[in-house]
Amino acid sequence: MLQADKGRCYITTPIYYVNSVPHVGHAYTNVLADAAARVARLMGMEVKFVTGTDEHGQKVERSAKALGKLPSEFVDANSLLFRNLCSCYLVSNDDFIRTTQPRHINCVKGFWDLLKSRDEIYMGKYSGWYCVRDESFYQEHELSPNGLSPTGAPVEWVEEESYFFRLSKWQKSLMEFYAENPDFIVPKHMFGEVISFVKSGLEDLSISRSGFHWGIGVPGDSKHVIYVWLDALVNYISALGYLSDDMDKFWSVASHMVGKDIWRFHAVYWPAFLLAAGLKPPRRLMVHGWWMKDGQKMSKSTGNVVDPFDLVERFGSDAVRYFLLSDMPFGNDGNITYNSLVRKANELADKVGNLVQRVMFFASKHFNSSVPEVSPPLDHPLFAQSCACLEVIKGLVQSMQFNLATSAIMELAAATNRYLDSVAPWKAIKVNSTKAAESIYISLEIIRHLGIYLQPFTPEGAQKILDQLQVEGRIFSSISNCLTPGHKLGQPSIVFRKFDAECSLTL
Ligand code: MSP
Repeated sequence: MLQADKGRCYITTPIYYVNSVPHVGHAYTNVLADAAARVARLMGMEVKFVTGTDEHGQKVERSAKALGKLPSEFVDANSLLFRNLCSCYLVSNDDFIRTTQPRHINCVKGFWDLLKSRDEIYMGKYSGWYCVRDESFYQEHELSPNGLSPTGAPVEWVEEESYFFRLSKWQKSLMEFYAENPDFIVPKHMFGEVISFVKSGLEDLSISRSGFHWGIGVPGDSKHVIYVWLDALVNYISALGYLSDDMDKFWSVASHMVGKDIWRFHAVYWPAFLLAAGLKPPRRLMVHGWWMKDGQKMSKSTGNVVDPFDLVERFGSDAVRYFLLSDMPFGNDGNITYNSLVRKANELADKVGNLVQRVMFFASKHFNSSVPEVSPPLDHPLFAQSCACLEVIKGLVQSMQFNLATSAIMELAAATNRYLDSVAPWKAIKVNSTKAAESIYISLEIIRHLGIYLQPFTPEGAQKILDQLQVEGRIFSSISNCLTPGHKLGQPSIVFRKFDAECSLTL
């Protein structure tokens, strides 16, 4: 689970490379981690949620140079775009770490010194393949027949003096750690891949580079900069103020959300670095799949990258978040298309938006914008369904199955719509006003639950719902504070917009 011992959890996203601008894949990682963090907060946990930018390395240095910019001004400008991405998607991070910040640089140097003092680092010579786009070393047998990296990027032959980390020494301890923590990785099938990689043998890892300067200098050796992945991974503890109170509070409940392309760094190298430093590995790794465009990987060179800012401008953050979270099971890959996004956005409008609108307008017209004065019929089966729905959402803290949680919410809204249609309060009001009042009470109460449940997925619309109902308690345990008969409601307003499904626009 999002390790929640002592009612706390620490959730991170990867820190994003600033060599280019954000794309929808970055928005996806952010939104997944954000939804998990929001669920944990609604469960009453103390949450620390951190994201940020990975700003060093040869890739960033080359990109800056290609634009004729200094790396420092280039990273400042691009890091800001990733910060903006967070606000645009209503990501509720508590901190934003940049690897060029002194708090991080000091921590990385301290971490290096610690590994060095424990004899985990030695000087050697690296000769082999390096892929700048992946910032990764590859063995000959990992390259494709046409000599590209496993991700399809060009590789370069590198021969240089380098510091090495004694990774091979940690193979056995890693295998023991995996065996003792069978829930370390979600989804489970990823674990097999990790285990067979480690089982096949680990070579010591080159952890410094020379020949360029854009990185954190190796303490005491100005010819080398620290390998960008060692630098980047340490962000997870530098954001906690390594060796501070927050480290004690949050490190043992750390959950990293990462894409499937970077599992090796998080499931193998990072735990090994930590074990070597005498620290515990993270408790949980949540590995998500990739969004494709027309079945193809999105890339700058193909020119098929979906712009995450443009999506929100056209559809609003709720629709895009809801699409990303509900359209593809966690861990799978999927296609992003205009039609599937519109279908998902319209599902929100048709099922939830429409329900809220008709009930709120009815209450405003027939009950003087107040909760009807009835004795609350709390034994109605819709309330049992709502409790079951809440359990599914809470289960997210374990399983990351956002698509199941969102469909349980939609099913609750659909069942409430069916119930309203069957009672037809617009007719009943003329012949049996108590029945009409009771049905509006039940519907308003379920709408309140829907507003609370939707907060991790569609925060803007959820807030509009709860504001219209004028309720204060918004965490999961507030479900039990049922609406008081006679409680004054706010102005009805549209919660979720509908989009034209017939339109042949593309993304
Ligand atoms: N800087 C490293 C991470 C260091 S963490 C210590 C990095 N950055 S990245 O910017 O390339 O990628 C960050 C995240 O974006 C990864 O989790 C990656 O999986 C995700 N995505 C990038 N493209 C994606 C899609 N097309 N679809 C879904 N997510 C993808 O790796």
